[in-house]
Amino acid sequence: MWANSLLSLLPLAVFAFARDRDHKVKEQLVAPPRGWTLHGPAPLDHLVKLRIALPQSNFPALEDHLYQISDPSHERYGQHLSNEQIEELVAPCPESVDAVNEWLASHGIEGDDVGRSPAGDWLTIKIPVSLAEEMLDTKYHVWKHIGGEYLVRTTSYSLPKTVFDHVELIQPTTIFGTFRKLKSTIHSISKTPTEDTSQNAAPVASATGVTVDASCNSTITITCLKQLYNAVDFTPSADNTIAVTGYLEQFANRADLQTFFEDQVPAAAAVHSTYTLISVNGGTDPQNGSLAGVEANLDTQFAFGLTFPAASTFYSTAGSPPFIPDIGTPTDSNEPYTEWLDFVLSQKTPSVISTSYGDDEQTVPLNFAQRVCQGFAQLGAKGVSLTFSSGDGGVGDGDPDPATQECITNDGTNSTRFIPGFPASCPFVTAVGGTVFIPEIAVPFSGGGFSNYFSRPSYQDAAVEGFLKGLPKGTYAGLFNPNGRGIPDVATQSDFFKVFIEGEAFSVGGTSASSPTFAGFVALLNDARFKKGLPALGFLNPLLYSRAVGGFNDITVGNNPGCGTEGFNATKGWDAVTGLGTPNFAKLLDLVS
Ligand SMILES: *[C@@H]1O[C@H](CO)[C@@H](O)[C@H](O)[C@H]1NC(C)=O
Ligand SMILES: *[C@@H]1O[C@H](CO)[C@@H](O)[C@H](O)[C@H]1NC(C)=O
Ligand SMILES: *[C@@H]1O[C@H](CO)[C@@H](O)[C@H](O)[C@H]1NC(C)=O
Ligand SMILES: *[C@@H]1O[C@H](CO)[C@@H](O)[C@H](O)[C@H]1NC(C)=O
Repeated sequence: MWANSLLSLLPLAVFAFARDRDHKVKEQLVAPPRGWTLHGPAPLDHLVKLRIALPQSNFPALEDHLYQISDPSHERYGQHLSNEQIEELVAPCPESVDAVNEWLASHGIEGDDVGRSPAGDWLTIKIPVSLAEEMLDTKYHVWKHIGGEYLVRTTSYSLPKTVFDHVELIQPTTIFGTFRKLKSTIHSISKTPTEDTSQNAAPVASATGVTVDASCNSTITITCLKQLYNAVDFTPSADNTIAVTGYLEQFANRADLQTFFEDQVPAAAAVHSTYTLISVNGGTDPQNGSLAGVEANLDTQFAFGLTFPAASTFYSTAGSPPFIPDIGTPTDSNEPYTEWLDFVLSQKTPSVISTSYGDDEQTVPLNFAQRVCQGFAQLGAKGVSLTFSSGDGGVGDGDPDPATQECITNDGTNSTRFIPGFPASCPFVTAVGGTVFIPEIAVPFSGGGFSNYFSRPSYQDAAVEGFLKGLPKGTYAGLFNPNGRGIPDVATQSDFFKVFIEGEAFSVGGTSASSPTFAGFVALLNDARFKKGLPALGFLNPLLYSRAVGGFNDITVGNNPGCGTEGFNATKGWDAVTGLGTPNFAKLLDLVS
């Protein structure tokens, strides 16, 4: 009644009223994340590339399949799913597709205006801010970070009731984790000392009993890793695949790879072995020496050096530069994993893929992190092993200066809390932490701890509960989530890697070195399996924590400080610094092939 009478008097006001009632808030931040301040209104003609996630119809079924085919004691072990089987499980319901299509069409967006992922569970549209504001009943602003970056974002958005339940999330809206903040996990880099004083020292015994060159204590090479992890006698074959991902305009350099091979893998140098570039979203492969990225060179040199003559792939994923308010860049940036996932899920994929990038878990909205993590599960179901660096901040936020390490939550309460990293915190990837020296001890920067987003997967229950029981009572109460997914799963050496950049040798450190190293050994295990006609290892974790658990060198010395604490200790068995430990390749070989 009241609305009716109002309608006759104030049609315009009622229109607004009706629209507000039609839209329902989908997502809202209590406050802009720490460090961000309002800079001004967003230019209305600024283009945003919105990614719309439709609910996946049957992810729980996909997860069941994944755990069965990844459990070495299950009869379906190794029976990976085809792209078509996976797409069928995650495709959205027809009602969702229809409702969202209708909504988009009502705004003039249809046909080729809409990009669709292989399963149709992600839609992409590129529209001006003015239209996004109308469709999402919101207001975009330019936000400025203390670090100097700008982003076009909003703190809340709404959806009409007709599509509210047919859309899981739309980004970029509330995602403040910037593309630039998606850090490569390089901890340190310095020129290698010209004279290695330990060169002539007597070899030392490693945990596996294999002798290791004394120089390996201060300079890590391919030979060092093969000695240390007991793989000197293994001859890899060409019938194998491995890949590393590149983001942030990090380009791998082919000439540097050749120089590295000359130094450390002469057989690869002799045949000028190189990688295949796969461009994602327009990613490029410039070979201008000064554009060589430390991260990309480290990853390609070690992953491909360990596995030569395996077929090697470098994924170059493009990302838009950050928004510059005075110039107004044409597109905005998003977390790039979704771009990469859409692409690789539709392709024939290498069996092992290493990624040395990550961000603080709390900078990625929960529902977005969940969808990305579900994408990694889909890759696992295809039979791909995914390794990620665990992060370089110990239990902290990666701020190298302990004085300013704040470890403060973004949820509006400003609580102090350990800061786990994502994607390492996703239970469907293998998170790789770091060690240093011989005998190996945990490296202090090794990212570790417990997810605040993902609960502990059952494959970890026994290992993690054992660790938690060993913590002195009340340790770090409130600082971490004891029911969260424990990080990392495994570790490898992570410092003093001898990497070539623009023709010169550098010593590089970070869990950035650990992920491609572990990936390399996984690829070698696949190699042995392929020779026996067995399928690739695929999603590794259920295997690592069960049948393969005896194939690791347990690391029991060291800790990972952060947030003004000493962090966790490396202990007997799994720990939140080095996981299960470092690989003993010969033992793993016996266990998995
Ligand atoms: C390697 O270096 C570390 C740190 O300097 C040292 O504690 C350790 O004894 C060295 N290992 C060997 C075998 O020399
Ligand atoms: C490489 O790129 C940089 C930066 O764009 C440029 O300054 C330099 O001249 C280029 N060098 C070569 C050899 O092309
Ligand atoms: C949290 O910190 C921010 C930035 O320092 C401040 O603006 C805000 O008022 C704080 N909130 C609470 C609840 O203390
Ligand atoms: C780590 O080990 C030290 C020395 O044994 C002990 O004092 C400390 O309480 C331990 N810290 C944790 C978090 O377990």
